Amino acid sequence: MAWRNSNERYGTLSISLHWLTALLLVAVYALIELHDALGRTPGARAAEHWHSMLGLLVWFLTLIRLPLRLLQPVPAIQPPLVFWQRRLALATHAALYILLLFMPVLGWLILSAEGGEITFFGLHVPPIHARDRDYAATVAEVHGTIGNIGYALIALHTAAGLFHHYVQRDNTLSRMLPKRGG
Ligand code: HEM
Ligand code: HEM
Repeated sequence: MAWRNSNERYGTLSISLHWLTALLLVAVYALIELHDALGRTPGARAAEHWHSMLGLLVWFLTLIRLPLRLLQPVPAIQPPLVFWQRRLALATHAALYILLLFMPVLGWLILSAEGGEITFFGLHVPPIHARDRDYAATVAEVHGTIGNIGYALIALHTAAGLFHHYVQRDNTLSRMLPKRGG
């Protein structure tokens, strides 16, 4: 299977980046839910730290993925979608990319304004804002609200993928899956 997208299906690079991002995002959400459930414990702090590091990893992957998306063809869906479905898919994908690009920056802003040390798998990460507790609290609220919208977006996106596969029976999902049998 080719690493580049063709007009028929996504290439291995796009497929790997898509599913790796999806997996990481599940972990990012699960870790912050775990953090909330654990209250004020060392375990909660560890969960938040892993939430932040995996969230930053999502950001790096998205920075690689977006230019690749713009440089490659998007494989056609067969049979072609009706107009409103094309529009809704475009809007959902744009919103997902906005989530993947801006949530990590908001998270980085929170940690910067809180004033603690920020690390990414042992590497020191520079702060992008001066220490300011009120600002950190405000950005945390925005980060949390957009994060909740993210749940709905991902649910809509996943439901659409399954709907195309099992109800409309087109190739939307199969062209995003590794090809079986070579
Ligand atoms: C796509 C990536 C991300 C998503 C979807 C996401 C989502 C969320 C969600 C849903 C919450 C819960 C808010 C609440 O409990 O009300 C949260 C909290 C938090 N996130 Fe993220 N996040 C992401 C990336 C990051 C990154 C990269 C960092 C740091 C570098 C970060 C730092 C934090 C912190 C510190 C909190 C706790 C805020 C508080 O004190 O209430 N997040 N995030
Ligand atoms: C959980 C986090 C997920 C995120 C953040 C995510 C994100 C994205 C993004 C941004 C695209 C647009 C690709 C592009 O054209 O550049 C996309 C495409 C796609 N995703 Fe996901 N995805 C996730 C989960 C899933 C799941 C669970 C499914 C399975 C039902 C799925 C199925 C698809 C399919 C079939 C496409 C291709 C759609 C098309 O070309 O019109 N995704 N995804």
